[in-house]
Amino acid sequence: MESMEKKEYAIDFGNLREQVHVFAPATVANMICGFDVLGFALDYPGDEVKMYRVAEPGVRIRAIHGDDGRLPLDADKNTVSACVKMLLEHLGIADELGVEIELTKHMPIGSGLGSSSASTVAGLFAINSLLGNPLSKEELMPFCVEGERLACGHGHADNVAPALMGGVTLIRGYDPLDIVRLPVPNELYAGVVFPQVDVPTRDARQLIKEKVWLKDAVTQWGNIAGLIAGLYEGDYALIGRSMQDVLIEPTRAILIPEFYEMKRLALEAGALSFGISGSGPSVVAIARGKEAAERAASRIQQHLTDCDIESLKYVSSVNVNGPKILN
Ligand code: HSE
Repeated sequence: MESMEKKEYAIDFGNLREQVHVFAPATVANMICGFDVLGFALDYPGDEVKMYRVAEPGVRIRAIHGDDGRLPLDADKNTVSACVKMLLEHLGIADELGVEIELTKHMPIGSGLGSSSASTVAGLFAINSLLGNPLSKEELMPFCVEGERLACGHGHADNVAPALMGGVTLIRGYDPLDIVRLPVPNELYAGVVFPQVDVPTRDARQLIKEKVWLKDAVTQWGNIAGLIAGLYEGDYALIGRSMQDVLIEPTRAILIPEFYEMKRLALEAGALSFGISGSGPSVVAIARGKEAAERAASRIQQHLTDCDIESLKYVSSVNVNGPKILN
């Protein structure tokens, strides 16, 4: 993990919360053209963590719901508890404090919606809240990135940053981590559809080429710059024509059934752009307004149904708040 500056944190042990219940949102990483550097948060779905203070020191998993038994209950192997433990060690209180975690997943694992990030962010936000918020969100971020590394073998931040900060985030740099929040035009909507096939991020990352052609890089950085200008200007047409990916999509689209037909239908239904959400297999139609996003997502889903492929659909604006406390 990126070395964290050691500093004194003010934790009032006499005044800790007994229990905290947190929601953290799903995210659309990459924003189609910005591999590993851009992402935004959704209003829903998202994961929930209930964290309870207990007398016996240590971090334990009490229960996990909604994962079909796929996630480890062993606190050293589970990403959420491992990150919470890491934070307590950083604060020098791992031997004093006891917490138990109940995780509820509301989105599929391996879906391209930042499932592991939402859980990690919810866990770290919960422990920080329980302790009276000794760390700022910026200070929590390296722990979130470490969670991503544990979950899929690579510490990209384009899911955890928007999940924690809310809104649209740019990872300007990784070493050191430099995260910039970008403006969110208020009619920007996403219609996300998850075709129910499993594509683990680890596999989807191994597939992509490490070397790219300069002409493709030029196209891509033009698109990233165009997207950012579009967000600042609230220029939806510019946002739409900039959200195109010539680097990663051609390779990853192979893993997603009916990708190009879904793209054609989404654009025909009025989406500004269409692409892969994170590492897939979820796809995202970006639209101006909820109706257009709903129309595009419904067309995509209908097509998948016609092809006998089950799917889930989420239509959401950009969630500018990030995690929230539910109790
Ligand atoms: N930027 C990452 C990737 C996001 O595309 O592999 C994973 O959700």
